[in-house]
Amino acid sequence: MEMQVSDAIGRVLAGKKEAKLLNAFFVLYKNARIIESSNRAFRKQIAGFYEQLKTLSLQSGQVTIKVYSGRYFVDDRMVRFDDRGLSGAGTIAAEWRALGLGGVEFSTDISAEEIGRFIKFISSVKPTRENVESLSESLKSHGLTAIKLLSAKEVDTGRPGIPEEVRRQFRTAARSTFFKALAVVEDVVVNTAADRQVNISRTKRVVHSLIDHITRDESSLLELSAIKDYDDYTYAHSTNVCVYALTLGVRLNLDRARLSQLGFTALFHDVGKVKLPSDLIKKPDAYDENDWIQMQQHPLLGAKSILRNMKLDVHTARAARGAFEHHVNRDFTGYPALRREKRPVNLFSKIISIVDTFDALSSGRVYLKKAIPPDKVLKKMHYQMAVKFDPFLLKIFNDIIGIFPAGSVVLLTTEEIALVLTNNEADPARPFVKIVGNREGLLPNPVWADLSHSEQADRRIVRMIDPARHGLDAKDFILND
Ligand SMILES: [Fe+2]
Ligand SMILES: [Fe+2]
Repeated sequence: MEMQVSDAIGRVLAGKKEAKLLNAFFVLYKNARIIESSNRAFRKQIAGFYEQLKTLSLQSGQVTIKVYSGRYFVDDRMVRFDDRGLSGAGTIAAEWRALGLGGVEFSTDISAEEIGRFIKFISSVKPTRENVESLSESLKSHGLTAIKLLSAKEVDTGRPGIPEEVRRQFRTAARSTFFKALAVVEDVVVNTAADRQVNISRTKRVVHSLIDHITRDESSLLELSAIKDYDDYTYAHSTNVCVYALTLGVRLNLDRARLSQLGFTALFHDVGKVKLPSDLIKKPDAYDENDWIQMQQHPLLGAKSILRNMKLDVHTARAARGAFEHHVNRDFTGYPALRREKRPVNLFSKIISIVDTFDALSSGRVYLKKAIPPDKVLKKMHYQMAVKFDPFLLKIFNDIIGIFPAGSVVLLTTEEIALVLTNNEADPARPFVKIVGNREGLLPNPVWADLSHSEQADRRIVRMIDPARHGLDAKDFILND
C-alpha cells in the first residue's frame, strides 16, 4: 500500500524545484507592486526566477503555473501546502479568479528582461477593468510573446489535480494513520491514568505521519474528523483536535519541528480528564455547578500528568503548557483563572482553543450534550464567542472548514445525496463531492463530482442534512469505498 502511494505521489505532487519556482514567483509578484524595476535587489530576484525557469523548462520547452480549486500547480503537479510560501498565495489566486485567469505559461526562450516587464504588468492589473482576452492583447502589444495566459475556463476543463484513483489511495492511507493516532492516544491515556511512565516516541512518529498526509491532501483527514459518533469519542476528540490544529499550523507555514510539537500538544490537551471520575466525563445530562468545578480541574491535572509521566523535552514542555492554557480565553476569562500575571497565551494554546471548541460544539459530546451543525458552530464562534478567540486564526480556520466541511452530507438540487470530500476555497458553495444516493436509494457505485465544474451546473447544494434523520450513517459513506 505505502509503496503504491509513494509512486502516485511522485506523479502528482510537485518536487522541491517546482515549489522553489512558485515561491520565487510569489515574491516577485508582491515586490513588483512596491519596488521600482530598476531596483537592484528586485533585478536579482528576477534573475533568480529566470534561472529556475530555465532549469525546469529544459525538457518540455515551457513551464506552466496554474491555479485550480485554490491549489497551485507547476507543470500540472500539485504544490504541497507546506512547500508554498504564505506570501500572498491566496491573494494571487483570488485576483486571478476575478480576472478569469487560470494560469501562465512561460516558454523557454523568454529573457530575464521580459520576465521583469511581465511581472510589472500583470501585478498592476485591475481585475474590474480587464479580462483574459484584453490582457493577452496587451501582452502582444508589449512584445511579450514568450508568455501565454491561460483562462480559468481552459484550466478548469483540463482539471489538473489528483486523479480519483490516487485520491482514493491517499484516503485509505490517511484512514490508517488516523486510526493509528486514535490507538496511540488511547494507549497514552490508559498509561497516564495508571500513573505509569509513557513512551512518547510512538506518538511523535504518528504525528509526523499526520503532517505528511495533511500537507499533500488535507481533506482526507478532515473528513475523518467530521465523524463525531465514534464509540469512544474521548480519543477521537483528541485526534480530531490534532488534525484540525495541524491543518491550521500548515496554513500558517509553521516549520516541521513546530508542527510536530503542535500536533503532540493537541493530542494531549485533555489528558487531565483521565484523572476525573469517569461518571463525570460520561454524564449524559448537562453539568451542574459542582460538575463544572471538577471539570475545570482538567487543565491543571493534564499539565501535571504530562510533566510527571513523560520525559521532559521541548514536546512535553509545550504539551504541558497547552494542556494548562487551552481553556484560557483571549480576554482572560475561562479557566484556570490566572490571577497574578496576565501573560498572553501562546500560539499553540490559541490554536487549540479554537479547534477544540469547534470539535466539542459540533460533536455535542463534550460539555454540551447537543450537536450543532459545523456552519452554525463557526457562526457562533464568530459572533457570540468572538472575544474568546484570536480573530486571525479563526478566519483561517473558517476558510479551511468552509460552509460545507469535508465529511458533511448534503442534499442537491437534483434530489441526490452527496458526501462532501473537499472544501473548495475559491468557491465554498461548490465543493468536491461523492454522490452516494438519489430518490431511489443508495447508489451501488458512488459518483465523484466537482460541483465547481461547468458540467455540474445542475447540481447545487440545497442544504446540509443530518444523515441519522434519514436512517443513513455518514460513517459508512466516509469509511467505505
Ligand atoms: Fe479541555
Ligand atoms: Fe478538548
